[in-house]
Amino acid sequence: MITTPLSEQDTTLLDRAVALAQKGLFTTKPNPRVGCVIARKNKIIGEGWHVRAGQDHAEIAALTAANHDVRGADVFVSLEPCSHHGKTGPCASALIDAGVARVVISMLDPNPEVSGRGVEMLRQAGIEVLISDNPDQARMINSGFCLRMEKGRPLVRLKIAATLDGRTAASDGSSQWITGDSARKDVHTLRAMSCALITGIGTIRADNPRLNARVDSDVEQPLRVVVEGHHVVPPDAAIFNEAGRVLLVGPRSLPSRKGVPSGAEYLSFDSNHGKVDLEQLIKSLAGQGCNEVLVEAGPTLAGAFLSAGLVDEIWIYQSPDIIGEAGRGMFVMPGIKSIQEKMSFQLIDSRPVGGDVRSIYLPQEKGL
Ligand SMILES: NC(=O)c1ccc[n+]([C@@H]2O[C@H](COP(=O)([O-])OP(=O)(O)OC[C@H]3O[C@@H](n4cnc5c(N)ncnc54)[C@H](OP(=O)(O)O)[C@@H]3O)[C@@H](O)[C@H]2O)c1
Repeated sequence: MITTPLSEQDTTLLDRAVALAQKGLFTTKPNPRVGCVIARKNKIIGEGWHVRAGQDHAEIAALTAANHDVRGADVFVSLEPCSHHGKTGPCASALIDAGVARVVISMLDPNPEVSGRGVEMLRQAGIEVLISDNPDQARMINSGFCLRMEKGRPLVRLKIAATLDGRTAASDGSSQWITGDSARKDVHTLRAMSCALITGIGTIRADNPRLNARVDSDVEQPLRVVVEGHHVVPPDAAIFNEAGRVLLVGPRSLPSRKGVPSGAEYLSFDSNHGKVDLEQLIKSLAGQGCNEVLVEAGPTLAGAFLSAGLVDEIWIYQSPDIIGEAGRGMFVMPGIKSIQEKMSFQLIDSRPVGGDVRSIYLPQEKGL
């Protein structure tokens, strides 16, 4: 479909719609974050955003805020209005019924099977539709959703806390509190954005984490996933004491788990040498509606995700401490024997977070 450079005024109003979409950052999962502005002669008369799956889409929230008095008005929306009946009616029909004159959108629906249908519906009803030629910001806030719709997999972030000398745990196994309060707060934001958090049984045994998102605002808690192996999560683990779903996954090659702790779910996957097939796990999470997945594991599972080529972003929080060579490294990757086999990344952001430094890397061959 043809995209158009927008006027300055249209750009400003569409930017506002994208900013509104951000308000759903922690809550819309598995749906995309979407914002909508309705304006008459460039003056905003109603705006809204999608808050939660099953609740009003952004367009309906904006129509409601404008008391549906929008005949002849312009609509700015960060994602193509839907054309299908899901948990709510099609937004394209609601805009047609409301009699709006013009709809400006940041990007088409990334689902190739429905992409463009909302635009077609609006145009057939005589509404002028413009599609921005600069969808970058709108795509960025839904990068995981776009990947899931376009490629059937979620965006996988790997987060690790390390010392200045690249150690993730001391030789006695202790690793909690490598980084300071600000970095830990930042990680909770990252968790809150995620649909699923994945850790390994080694981390559960060493740290007994709660693995939930502790932020000051409303949050839809991510699914917590533990990859088990020869060892399994004990029934009194802290992960079972928090609200939200817990999914335990194990390798099919090992004797099956004797019972699943109450409140948890269990899935087994194909395996190699007693290790869960991580690609199958990631595909399964996409099938369960996960857009963004955060891996927060020890060096064994973190290295396995990297070796399997499943990581889209690495987030490293580095403290200004040194704990020496007896501490554990960041990634166990026994497959790499020579420098020619190195994996290369591109630094896209690096900034201080309290007394630590947060750096974000993308695999060189992937990009976003
Ligand atoms: N600094 C940080 O950011 C950070 C974060 C988390 C944890 N940690 C530290 O890391 C340490 C634990 O690390 P870890 O390496 O022992 O544990 P881990 O990476 O959390 O878990 C690894 C275990 O998962 C199981 N597993 C099943 N399928 C697997 C697969 N495909 N690939 C890899 N593992 C698979 C295996 O269990 P079985 O051995 O039972 O077969 C494996 O030993 C602790 O000291 C913890 O404090 C540090």
